[in-house]
Amino acid sequence: MAAPLPGDSAPSVAALDGSAGLFEAIYTTRALRRFRPDPIPQDVLFQILDAAIRAPSGQNAQDWRFLIVTEAPVKLALQEWALEGWARYSLRYAEDPAQIDALPRSQRLSLRSVEHLSHHLSEAPAIVLVCGMHGRHSTPGGSSYPAVQNLLLAARALGIGGSIFNLPLGHADELKQMLDIPENNDIYCVLPLGYPTDTIGPVLRKPVQKVVYWEKFGQAWEFAAQQPAQGWEERWIE
Ligand SMILES: Cc1cc2nc3c(=O)[nH]c(=O)nc-3n(C[C@H](O)[C@H](O)[C@H](O)COP(=O)(O)O)c2cc1C
Repeated sequence: MAAPLPGDSAPSVAALDGSAGLFEAIYTTRALRRFRPDPIPQDVLFQILDAAIRAPSGQNAQDWRFLIVTEAPVKLALQEWALEGWARYSLRYAEDPAQIDALPRSQRLSLRSVEHLSHHLSEAPAIVLVCGMHGRHSTPGGSSYPAVQNLLLAARALGIGGSIFNLPLGHADELKQMLDIPENNDIYCVLPLGYPTDTIGPVLRKPVQKVVYWEKFGQAWEFAAQQPAQGWEERWIE
């Protein structure tokens, strides 16, 4: 059952029931990049971050730090840098922007939503920067991303949308300076969050039978081969 979006009424502690079940949230959490300007209440943000920090990290070091940005000047700087990132990325379509319209639907919609967020990042009510100490583990990014996914799933359960949106990180050094992020930290991820105006899931993914092998790389998993091409999506999405 799709959970109602609490953004339709003023959310409060009462909305923190996480009414999307785990599998429903997993199967419907997609990158949402268009938001209403409504602020996210502090209790909702707390629940999302409190779920994020339940994630595993190398040696349980929890060297992650999460910076919640809501102030206009910082969000505007992030938007300017995102636009630069978008301009670099979209160069491949510069000669003929209509090429984007010729892409398969899901690709086209996804690109248009990246373009939209690049132009409207400052309107996202909250942007979470996920930082971590660099060089602390062999895979410092790997110690942040489980928390990022926890965060996105918790957000989904509470009717909040978001997406990893690293386009502004071409200016990571300036961003670090602006926000007093210490030299020994890196920014691994930029996460705009808000009440989405786009609809939730399902997500388009290569099926299990294409990406999971049995015993030897490349060897089919017979059980998976007998399952529907879209997997068990129908169990979790109406
Ligand atoms: C490491 C990483 C970096 C990403 N960077 C960006 C980014 O800079 N801009 C963006 O719009 N999406 C970014 N994404 C989001 C992916 O594009 C998105 O999750 C993927 O296309 C699947 O989208 P869907 O869940 O809506 O199907 C990033 C995702 C990951 C895991």
